[in-house]
Amino acid sequence: MFSRLSERVAMARLSPLARGVRQANLTYLSPAKLAALEEALDDVERDNVPGDFLEFGVALAGSAILIAARLDDVRSFHGYDVFGMIPPPGERDDARSHERYTEIKEGRSHGIGGETYYGYVEDLYGRMRLIRERTFVRWPRMPSPAKNSLPRTTS
Ligand SMILES: C[S@@+](CC[C@H](N)C(=O)[O-])C[C@H]1O[C@@H](n2cnc3c(N)ncnc32)[C@H](O)[C@@H]1O
Repeated sequence: MFSRLSERVAMARLSPLARGVRQANLTYLSPAKLAALEEALDDVERDNVPGDFLEFGVALAGSAILIAARLDDVRSFHGYDVFGMIPPPGERDDARSHERYTEIKEGRSHGIGGETYYGYVEDLYGRMRLIRERTFVRWPRMPSPAKNSLPRTTS
């Protein structure tokens, strides 16, 4: 009950673009985390913080859309992801990461809003292009992933 109320309050703080991203099931971020991201982007703009945007973990590009919406002629966006099945955790990763990986590997993971988990989607990269073309969410200055997301994996 309380969490639903706080989620509604956080949703009300979001920009229409962030609300659209969330309603289109394009992000794993909670409304509170999206609000924090938008506040950080406001700070960057207000204080003229120099530099580019790097995102490690693009998934369905929800947060990337919000970041890319703030690009100007100088700043660029670089998004990194495997765009497919995630690699297995290492021996220094915690038990929760191993459990989560097993769940994903065994096909038991669910996507946002009951959709297919993105790691099971063949050609997620191509699918993202389709999302970009077909959703109402505008990706105003989102660079082409093919050109700007190299390398496609992080090490
Ligand atoms: C929680 S999701 C990112 C959420 C996203 N920013 C959003 O708005 O919903 C984490 C992403 O990190 C990626 N990832 C995890 N480990 C990785 C690795 N070792 N190399 C590249 N990508 C990785 C996964 O494929 C996944 O898309």
